[in-house]
Amino acid sequence: MSKQLILALSKGRILDETLPLLADAGITPAEDLSASRKLLFDTNLPDVKIVVIRATDVPTYVQLGAADVGVAGKDVLLEHGAEGLYEPLDLEIARCKLMTAGVTGAEPARARRRVATKFVEVARRYYAEQGIQAEVIKLYGAMELAPLMDLADEIVDIVDTGNTLRANGMEPRELIAPISTRLVVNKAAMTMKHDRLKPLIQRLHEAVAVRR
Ligand code: ADP
Ligand code: PRP
Ligand code: MG
Repeated sequence: MSKQLILALSKGRILDETLPLLADAGITPAEDLSASRKLLFDTNLPDVKIVVIRATDVPTYVQLGAADVGVAGKDVLLEHGAEGLYEPLDLEIARCKLMTAGVTGAEPARARRRVATKFVEVARRYYAEQGIQAEVIKLYGAMELAPLMDLADEIVDIVDTGNTLRANGMEPRELIAPISTRLVVNKAAMTMKHDRLKPLIQRLHEAVAVRR
């Protein structure tokens, strides 16, 4: 088995905060990730490569072993499921909350609540736990529009400042989970490449700690 390490990074808002942590752990991309159309990058270390992919694809790459290590939001991990993955480290970046939200002042009237979200598994689980009947409607973005257009009674989405909700006449309701970015590791790689992974996780751990 090759001792090469493949790191899968989430593109988008997590990436800019991930790179300084990796740099502190001794890994820097060989070129500017954002200035390139490439998806697979060399690093300063001959045995480490980086792929930059959609955040929602990171758990799949790591679970199936195409990447050894990944960086992904807890929201994405909760939705995807944790099978085949270890989650050894909270990188403590891109903090936000997964919440339910609805039109400001409106009571969720229907017996069967219509919930629009891209987090369908999280939403199904959450409403079932609460004993609330819910019809979960899958959307791919702009969840905040759904209640406004009477597509749904509530949404399940990421909330940070609350500005997006407020700008659309909505308010946060219940907290489902606090969210931050996590390091995930393929379970087989954790055993097979332990000598290589242990110091990497340790250095990332220290990089996180000095930022507290
Ligand atoms: P996407 O295109 O999938 O929405 P983003 O780059 O916007 O990807 O978000 C990636 C991750 O960043 C999310 O999975 C979540 O963990 C976190 N995140 C999303 N929105 C916010 C926000 N407003 N504030 C802080 N973190 C966020
Ligand atoms: C995210 C999230 C919310 C918003 C919350 O959207 O989906 O819409 O941020 O942040 P706030 O509480 O500070 O307003 P993003 O900006 O990532 O847009 P997207 O729809 O492209 O994911
Ligand atoms: Mg987003």
